Amino acid sequence: MAIYPEASRVVSQFDFSDADINRHVQEFLKQMGEGLEKDGTSLSQIPTYVTGVPNGTEKGLYLAVDLGGTNFRVCSVTLHGDTTFDLTFDKVAIPKDLMVAKTASELFSFLAKQVEAFLQKHHAEHFECHLQRRKTGSAPEGFKEQEIFHLGFTFSFPVQQLAINKGNLMRWTKGFDIPDAVGKDVCALLQVEIDKLGLPVKVAALVNDTVGTLMARSYTSTGKYRSILGAIFGTGTNGAYIEKTSNIKKKIVGDYDTSTGEMVINAEWGSFDNQLNVLPNTPWDQTLDRDSVNPGIQMFEKRVSGMFLGEIVRLAVVDLIKDEKTLLFKNPDVAAAGGSILEQWGLDSAVMSAAAKDESADLSDLKQELSILLNGFVPTTEDAQTFKAVSYAVGRRAARLSAVALGAIALQSGKVQDPKEEVIDIGVDGSLVEHYPQFREMIYEALESVKEIGPEGAKKIRIGIAKDGSGVGAALIALIADRSSKTSQA
Ligand code: GLC
Repeated sequence: MAIYPEASRVVSQFDFSDADINRHVQEFLKQMGEGLEKDGTSLSQIPTYVTGVPNGTEKGLYLAVDLGGTNFRVCSVTLHGDTTFDLTFDKVAIPKDLMVAKTASELFSFLAKQVEAFLQKHHAEHFECHLQRRKTGSAPEGFKEQEIFHLGFTFSFPVQQLAINKGNLMRWTKGFDIPDAVGKDVCALLQVEIDKLGLPVKVAALVNDTVGTLMARSYTSTGKYRSILGAIFGTGTNGAYIEKTSNIKKKIVGDYDTSTGEMVINAEWGSFDNQLNVLPNTPWDQTLDRDSVNPGIQMFEKRVSGMFLGEIVRLAVVDLIKDEKTLLFKNPDVAAAGGSILEQWGLDSAVMSAAAKDESADLSDLKQELSILLNGFVPTTEDAQTFKAVSYAVGRRAARLSAVALGAIALQSGKVQDPKEEVIDIGVDGSLVEHYPQFREMIYEALESVKEIGPEGAKKIRIGIAKDGSGVGAALIALIADRSSKTSQA
């Protein structure tokens, strides 16, 4: 591939060697341990109050809503009890101004209205009942308590969970910034708005998307292997895994079922190594962080997830564009001609997938994609090849960093070393694993280089897509919460 020589210098700064991977795995294990011991560490290691995973026999109709990135989804899920399910959903983009609204209720009332619209469209009988209740103040005759929908709320931000349906927002991530909501119970915020509309809906469970992914994977995987970890590599990145309660040294405040001896932990690994003990820190990583809404936090996420990778590539490429000594994007001179490539967030990570997908000699598809960012001007083949090389380097580093998190948690589970454990199952979801070519292959290659895992250990690790975790998983946790509230009432 003919890339401009100056670009090799940029590309090499994204190298992430096998030795780097091993150093990171050790640090990750150390920071996991710290998070299990006390609050306020970089990996938050949040106890979720979920103490078991489903086995596929769960049944019922549940609602789930999902707030976590660019879209808000409302779903109803019918679990058939035989590892299968039906899911109906509607999705709306979250208006940008609501992501940075003045008050929490502006955002949460918008969410409640989407639930109302969904019920109106897909569950008309329930909606009728709701209308009558609104008119007369009481539900129609024969409307039973169990006809109230139990809703699993997938809220994919760091939350200090206090019970299965209660948790205070610790901080926003992924571009959201509504200070009014920080420290408040997000389930209550949603319930208040739902109640204002008089909807027959009870917010029964608070779920991180990674926990939902783990649940969904466990429900649908028919084999004898229990998943140990659910992970997201999408707009953000994070993982939830099964931990022995005896390893959780910090205090778990609320009540939970102690019979399994386990609890799902939401690692919040997006903030692994905020202190930069080991993480790579190129000039472009530094600029991205400095100009973000949350400098100094989510440092791992800022090197791994879809929201940020395009921006790292953009910053590195713009440096080359502005470098008068390189010929990159100089015909015509993009720096003068303009285009969204010169603007913050002007390069979506999807362009990186397009770059990796295009294997033609003249990179015609990629050139087309790039021309959109370059005010219509079609770049030369060398321009496109250079872009592809930078983009690949950033993508590969992200995949190898992802392997650090997966490898460390596989080791923590004790299953890598145990000859009786044949398969270590991991459920994943998110745009990167779904759409970025070779992302999983690059992860496997990196896992093999972890000393304690090696090629044999890596073969045991099975990384499978768990679609719709935030819908099915949230429904499953709403079901578990519903069951345990009935048991405690009995
Ligand atoms: C961010 C959030 C985390 C979520 C992840 C993936 O890291 O803080 O809660 O799981 O994004 O959506």
